[in-house]
Parts: sequence; C-alpha cells; structure tokens
Amino acid sequence: MQKLLIDGKKTLSGNINISGSKNSALPILAATILNNHTTIKNIPFVNDIFTMLNLLKFIGLKYKLSKKKQSVEIINQNKKINTVAPYKLVKTMRAGVLVLGPLLAKYKKAKVSLPGGCAIGTRPVDLHLFALKKLGAKIKIKNGYIFASAKNGLKGAKFKFPSISVGATENAILAAVHAKGITTIDNCAIEPEINDLISFLNKLGVEIRMSGRKITIERSIKEKKTSHKIICDRIELGTYLIGGALIAKKLRLKNIDSNLIKKEISILKKMGVKMSVYKNYIEVYKSKKIKKININTDPYPGFPTDLQAQIMILMTQAKGLSKIKESIFENRFMHVPELKRMGAKIEIRNNTAYITGPCLLNGAEVMATDLRASVSLVLAALIANKRTKINRIYHLDRGYQDLEKKLIKCKAKIKRV
Ligand code: UD1
Repeated sequence: MQKLLIDGKKTLSGNINISGSKNSALPILAATILNNHTTIKNIPFVNDIFTMLNLLKFIGLKYKLSKKKQSVEIINQNKKINTVAPYKLVKTMRAGVLVLGPLLAKYKKAKVSLPGGCAIGTRPVDLHLFALKKLGAKIKIKNGYIFASAKNGLKGAKFKFPSISVGATENAILAAVHAKGITTIDNCAIEPEINDLISFLNKLGVEIRMSGRKITIERSIKEKKTSHKIICDRIELGTYLIGGALIAKKLRLKNIDSNLIKKEISILKKMGVKMSVYKNYIEVYKSKKIKKININTDPYPGFPTDLQAQIMILMTQAKGLSKIKESIFENRFMHVPELKRMGAKIEIRNNTAYITGPCLLNGAEVMATDLRASVSLVLAALIANKRTKINRIYHLDRGYQDLEKKLIKCKAKIKRV
C-alpha cells in the first residue's frame, strides 16, 4: 500500500493549476447517458472519475480520454444498453447512484446497487428515491439493489425535498429531463456543481430554471453532439488556499473562478489570511497572526463540509479557541484523533470540534480515513516539525489530481513510497 512521506516546514512558493471539479464532473458524466455524443473538457484525472467512466462502459457507452487535452469524449450509440450499476462499481464511490435517474428516464428501468454505508456517515439514498417516486417511478429494494421502473415513462410533478441533498437534487433533475410535463422541485441543493449540471443540460435543449431553492424543469431534451467545460474544483482551490495561508511565501492559484468561493474567502480574510483575489487567480501568503473563528458547515452558500478538515489545520495555528460545528455529516471528525497524535489540541463534543491554538505540530505516522480527512493530514504535515508518514493514501487519489506533483513544484518535500 502506498504512503506519503512529507518533511514539514518547507516554505511553499510558485503556481498551482486548479483542476476541474470532481463533484461537477460526476453528475455530468452520468448525464452523458442521456446524450449520443458528448465531449467534457477540464475533466480531473482522479480515480472517482475513472470509476464513473468504468460504470458508463459497463452500461454500454464508449469513451476516449485525452490527458493532454484534459478531456473525455463519450459516445452512447443507444445499442446493447445494460441498465445496471453493479455493487463492485458503486461500493467505492457513492456517486455511482447518479446513473439511476438518467437510466430510468431514458430506458424506463434501472437496477442500481445501494451504495451502503460510508466512513463519514450512514449516507442513505431515501431522498433520491423519494424524488423518483414523485415522478411516478415504481421502486423496490431487494438483495442490496434498487430496482426502479416506469413502464410508461416518468411524469412531471411538483414536490419539495424534506431536507437538502446535493446528490438527490442531481438525480431528480436527471430523471425529470425525460418526464412528460413540467417538474417543479422545492428545497433543492444549489451548489455551483448543480448549476454546472443545469448549464450542460441547457445545451441539450432542456429548459431548467432556478429561483432560490426552487428548480423547474421542462422536457425537451434533444440529443446532439455537445461539448462542455467543467467548472474549477472549489474544494481543491480552498484546500491549496489554506495550504498557502499556512506556509507560503507566495502561492498563485490559477485556472479558477474566485466567485465560487466567496464565503470561504470572507472567512479566511476574517482569520487574518493575506491574499489578493482576482476573477481568474488568487495569490495567498502565510500570515504571521491567524485569528480564532467559529464556523458551521452548511449547504451552499454556507461553508462546505468538504473544507471542514482543512480549515481545522488553520485553526490549530490561530490564537485562542476556535469552533467548527459539522452540520452535514454525523461522523466527519475522523482526522481529529490523527491530528491529536501530531500534537493538535482538539476536543469533540457532539457535532462540534473545539480547537485551541496556536500549537506546534510534530511529524508522526498517521492514517488517512476519507478523502478530505486525508488532505487535512497533508496540510498538517506541511507545517509539522520533521517527517510525517501518511498511510492509506488511496483516498487522496480518488479526488486530488497530481497532489504531490503540484506541491513538489512549489518546493514541498514529499515522496510517495
Ligand atoms: C455531495 C458531495 C460531497 C459533499 C456533500 C455535501 C458529490 C459527488 N459529493 O455528496 O463531496 O460532502 O455533497 O456537500 O458531489 N442524505 C439523506 N438521504 C439521502 C441523501 C442524503 O439523508 O437520500 C443526507 C446525507 O446523509 C447527509 C446530507 O443528506 O447528511 C447531505 O448529503 P448530500 O448532499 O446528499 O451529499 P452527497 O450528494 O452524497
């Protein structure tokens, strides 16, 4: 099993190109089932994307990747389609469940493995199924699989999600594009990745409007040769922004849209982080004095749960007691015991972490537990005394393209063994 060896306290400087958003690319890849010929640009080359492409291939689509162009071309000849997403391809990546909506909408049936539990929480799919049932699907759960059917096609409907879910909103939109009549969904997630999915579907002639948390979908999908460029990965951007605030002489983050992380920028500025923000790039510098802060994770436009573990590292360097309340997932503090082994002063009570700083972190042997927890250990290692050994780094490869290459280019001392 591969490990990362990181020698801390090396000042970073240079440029980092931010990749395309994994969380935007995954639902758009699922949406390519609905079209005959799609080219997706700015696709991140990470393992979750390869898993989704394998799933599309299993279903019967063909794809061609170009690392040079950072793009993938996907063809659906609508022949020999297997409307199944097997356990082996859904168990490692929950987003596999996003093929349920498009398969059911276009081919009127689907058999998709239940994604099961996950380290950061139970993560059920009841909201996905709630939406599909409202659109007229018949759903049965048997032997760990969701069996969905709509013999006469789905029907437009008006409904409200009981709580906000990114994946369920995406599955509902993907199903509704083939429904007869108009669909209006309230209490939707409105993350930038949902907007990106909508702008892709708009190119296929579907009329989708968003007003507050209400999304209206009118049927008229037209299959045609289409190309779409994925938005920048706001979580990768936020991760390196925090890395820069921790230990950069000057780090320039490029290939971005800084409007996607307005909330994060305002929080980092409140913490005393020095940065110059432009539309297409941000420059960030290590700040001598980091100020304590209290934050909650919340659905967009709130502070993202996917940056909670990373900002906690900055809090270990802030003077005084900072707090983070995790409002999205019930078990997303798994990085805390590992950080404590590096000397961090963190207490967890209910769903809130209390972080006392500033404190000196020491290199140690630690274990990565999930994607964002893993990258928080990398950030901690960058500022720690001596060497940190991070085990189980396959989580990082699921979501961060060329992580150590990007950091090494900026003078970090990292080795993969
Ligand atoms: C997506 C992101 C993930 C991010 C999360 C929250 C992708 C591929 N992943 O995950 O990185 O951390 O949004 O911003 O885009 N829930 C239910 N029933 C459901 C679905 C969700 O109870 O049917 C709950 C979840 O357990 C969680 C909350 O709703 O507590 C939000 O989850 P959701 O927004 O659905 O997350 P994902 O779409 O899985």
